[in-house]
Amino acid sequence: MSESEKEKLKGINYLRILAITFVILITFQSCSYLAFKKDNRQLLSFVPVEEQELKDSIIYRFNDSEMSKNLSVRTVLKYFTAIEQEEGVGARVRRSIGTTKMRRFTPFLMLDDFSIKPPAGFPDHPHHGQETITYNLKGMIAHEDFTGSKGVLFPGDLQFMTAGKGIVHSEIPVELEDGSITKGLQLWVDLPTELKNCEPRYRDLRKRETPEVKVNDNLTVRVISGKSYGVDSVQELAYTPVHFYHFITSKKGTVFTQEFPKDFNVFIYILDGSLVINEQVFSEHSVVFFNTDGEGVVGTSASEDTQFVLIGGKILDQEVLQYGPFVETDKKRMIEVFRNYQYGINGFEKAHFWDSKIACGISEMDARKLYKE
Ligand SMILES: *[C@@H]1O[C@H](CO)[C@@H](O)[C@H](O)[C@H]1NC(C)=O
Ligand SMILES: *[C@@H]1O[C@H](CO)[C@@H](O)[C@H](O)[C@H]1NC(C)=O
Ligand SMILES: *[C@@H]1O[C@H](CO)[C@@H](O)[C@H](O)[C@H]1NC(C)=O
Repeated sequence: MSESEKEKLKGINYLRILAITFVILITFQSCSYLAFKKDNRQLLSFVPVEEQELKDSIIYRFNDSEMSKNLSVRTVLKYFTAIEQEEGVGARVRRSIGTTKMRRFTPFLMLDDFSIKPPAGFPDHPHHGQETITYNLKGMIAHEDFTGSKGVLFPGDLQFMTAGKGIVHSEIPVELEDGSITKGLQLWVDLPTELKNCEPRYRDLRKRETPEVKVNDNLTVRVISGKSYGVDSVQELAYTPVHFYHFITSKKGTVFTQEFPKDFNVFIYILDGSLVINEQVFSEHSVVFFNTDGEGVVGTSASEDTQFVLIGGKILDQEVLQYGPFVETDKKRMIEVFRNYQYGINGFEKAHFWDSKIACGISEMDARKLYKE
């Protein structure tokens, strides 16, 4: 090789390194930029534990004169009842999104309504390229991941986890002293292509941090993310915009309305009771998907005690390639993810020697201690 050829090769290598550095910088910056975008709203207020325990959610009373809006109503695209199945190690879940009936509903990849009791749970397993939102409804669930994050969710608490380039974590129900079961929802949300390799992160959202709107004597809405009856959730929790509401009514015939942005896909999952939407009745554990043909969703409760979640997410215009908990946009990128996981590189460095402490179970006493840490 001549001197000039050697010089040329050096130049190419140098350019290559520059390009890689550039890509890394861009990936990193777009992540941190997006994490703190949206009119300076705080991502999460870190309130000391003692204060958290004392406070309950802030309750707002809805002012009726704000309700004079005239929404165009979204029509139903599809619906079915979620059937109970086995998942993880001995857990029972009702899966709706992520089944043959609805493979995915962009940006949503999966919705599980879970009921678990020790020794069942979801011990150490990896994720890549998506976010998971866990809404704990009953009992307690502990989690721990290889970045050092850990925590405990009490009823009404949520956890938002961004897997990004890679994470390994464990989600285990707490062995409650009264022997009761842990119940909740887990939603998987796709990440935009440009964020798939961002740094993993996670945060807990306590029940008391989510405002509740008392719309009238018969209707209350927990505003987890988004805006309902004039009350804003304040916090941005996921990279992919998601609006998440929990509606609760104890009276049959209660009317509800919820607006969504035009470019959001929207669905309802009924936790308890039944609903009438566009003159059709839907029962417990039904999932109802909407078309994008209106500004919002309108319905009426059809049973005395009715609870449901109404969730919307920004439609992502990208391919989805999914192998279990690895989500990518094409085969080439997926092969890369498998390689990273297999060799413990590019974010999966700790994958092969990290073991969670909670995988084999956690007592209620230890979980309460962990919560205080
Ligand atoms: C409700 O909103 C209207 C219009 O914004 C206002 O005039 C009225 O005083 C409000 N009522 C209460 C009880 O806040
Ligand atoms: C609602 O919209 C319809 C159609 O645009 C209109 O005819 C009706 O008057 C509106 N109602 C109210 C209360 O604004
Ligand atoms: C609440 O429910 C009661 C009993 O069903 C009913 O009489 C009342 O009109 C309802 N109020 C509203 C605002 O829907």
